[in-house]
Amino acid sequence: NQKRITFSGIQPTGIPHLGNYLGAITSWVSLQNNQSSESELILYSIVDLHALTIPKDAEMLRKSKIEIAIILLACGINPKKCLIFEQSKVPAHSELSWILNCIIPIGWLSRMTQWKTKIQEQKNIQSIEDIDISIGLDLGLFTYPVLQAADILLYKSTHVPVGDDQVQHLELTRNIAEKFNKLYKKNVFPLPQTILVPAKRILSLKDPSKKMSKSSPFEYSRINLTDSPKEISQKINRATTDSQKGISYSPDIRPGISNLINIYSSFTGLTIEQVVNKYKNYDNKMFKDSVTEVVIQHLQPIQKEIEKLRKEEGYVKNVLEDGANKANEIAKRNLNEIYKIIGL
Ligand code: ADP
Ligand code: NA
Repeated sequence: NQKRITFSGIQPTGIPHLGNYLGAITSWVSLQNNQSSESELILYSIVDLHALTIPKDAEMLRKSKIEIAIILLACGINPKKCLIFEQSKVPAHSELSWILNCIIPIGWLSRMTQWKTKIQEQKNIQSIEDIDISIGLDLGLFTYPVLQAADILLYKSTHVPVGDDQVQHLELTRNIAEKFNKLYKKNVFPLPQTILVPAKRILSLKDPSKKMSKSSPFEYSRINLTDSPKEISQKINRATTDSQKGISYSPDIRPGISNLINIYSSFTGLTIEQVVNKYKNYDNKMFKDSVTEVVIQHLQPIQKEIEKLRKEEGYVKNVLEDGANKANEIAKRNLNEIYKIIGL
């Protein structure tokens, strides 16, 4: 009867957006609230070491971390039910990452698609096929799936809730765990299960062939959880759609409209069919107005709570410190065991 240990992370690279909210945060809250037993452990980390893989500014990063903590708490993450902490405050993440680096073939990492997508964004490259490892790639962006594996394996996690953009990295994490266990003939790491968040991947409002992302340079491509009603309305109105008449769901042919239908469906709990039935005779502009209304309405109470917590920075910092202390205890114990096994 193995203890259930859940780990997930979010990067402090900017304000969380609707994709993070529907694809991660809402499921973090429900996992936290539906724990089956007292012995279950849930860790949610603000993964600041990962944030170093894209260009940033030190002051922005510092601010971003507090801001993300505030937003997680405002969305219902409860520090009495889970550990919430900054990754860099638990040095064992970096330490285990090095150890794992030493057993991972480069080929495993070059098959990952995320670094290619990020490079594509940063350098504005048309086709992902034109990207290979010689393109001027920072080592950190290439090896961050190893750090991600370390994040998860450090706590001997059994469950990892993520959006479908991270499924490939989870698979890699299992391969790494398996390889380590075999190499040292010890069952150190459980093979962590992906808890696939049922929400659909939310796409960029600018270019619906890409996911909505904090790291996109185009501010209007995403709706941040802190956007004002006016900003939300402007961004949704500007969202790329097509000139077909009426509202229909077809992610391949009408990705922009289908993305808005997904957002509407996620926020209202209506199925895709119900949304389409309700709006099939609307034009794009009218449908966009309805989506806008639903998003504004849903975010309002969260934004109120954010305002409140912004005035309680001392409390928020305490929560993070307490989380880091508890995470460090487990991490140090596990890292010691690993050091012994590999001869350090
Ligand atoms: P980003 O790529 O925007 O920087 P993170 O890497 O911090 O986001 O991801 C945090 C969580 O949010 C992950 O579980 C990821 O699967 C989820 N997520 C990120 N972007 C989206 C999206 N557009 N749609 C659904 N889920 C997403
Ligand atoms: Na990501």
